[in-house]
Amino acid sequence: MQIHDARAGYGWLSIALHWAAAIAVVMLWFVGNQMTAEDTLPEEAAMLLKVHTSVAVAVYLLLLYRVFRRLQIGFPARSAGQKDALLRTARVVHFVLLFSILVMLFTGPMQVWLAGDAIALFDFGEIAGPFTANENAAAFFNAAHVAFAKVLFVVFLIHVAGAMRQILFSEGETANRMLVATEGEFPDEGKADA
Ligand code: HEM
Ligand code: HEM
Repeated sequence: MQIHDARAGYGWLSIALHWAAAIAVVMLWFVGNQMTAEDTLPEEAAMLLKVHTSVAVAVYLLLLYRVFRRLQIGFPARSAGQKDALLRTARVVHFVLLFSILVMLFTGPMQVWLAGDAIALFDFGEIAGPFTANENAAAFFNAAHVAFAKVLFVVFLIHVAGAMRQILFSEGETANRMLVATEGEFPDEGKADA
């Protein structure tokens, strides 16, 4: 079984991490949006906030590992026939997605702790912060969290549209690489980038 990435595509570990992280991020995004929606009742919002922070803490290390692993090993080479402009656009999209995840993971806990609150973790208890409350700093991290949630959503739509265009209209082989592992060796120099 091809666990690691090959020069020509992803291994099962990358594929598993991609889909696990994708499900987690989309779920956090929906719950986050619902809990802050104007028509959500306060009790429901409080319950959803607990779900949001608990799930975020549960997947925190997985998301961090997924981001830094990709930055460390790089991306596989382009797929057959993939044009320069398309490859560059896809890379920008991938980097913005990875960066936005990092920003969400950093600003999430910071906004809670700097507001003087603790992070709710299911029914296990709470994770108290190391800082004293600071209203301005909390507002800054809150604004960043809200803004990058929007960035994440827009870039996610572009990402999915690109993948769907390939899968539905058989436009190239790139998208299939995230469905089935590609056999082959990882390059010796450690970087797979084209
Ligand atoms: C990739 C990970 C994450 C995503 C996609 C995400 C997404 C969101 C979204 C969409 C919102 C609603 C923003 C709005 O008001 O329009 C939100 C709010 C919030 N998130 Fe996250 N979040 C993530 C990680 C975290 C983490 C790690 C924590 C803390 C442990 C956290 C804590 C919060 C809190 C407290 C709010 C409420 C902010 C408010 O009341 O305005 N989030 N998040
Ligand atoms: C239905 C949802 C999704 C589909 C169909 C999809 C599809 C794909 C495909 C086909 C690739 C391979 C592209 C290539 O090799 O150039 C890929 C890579 C990637 N996707 Fe997605 N994706 C989805 C959701 C997400 C989400 C939610 C995120 C992050 C928030 C994400 C982040 C990435 C990143 C960073 C890569 C680069 C390779 C890696 O590090 O895994 N994707 N995606």
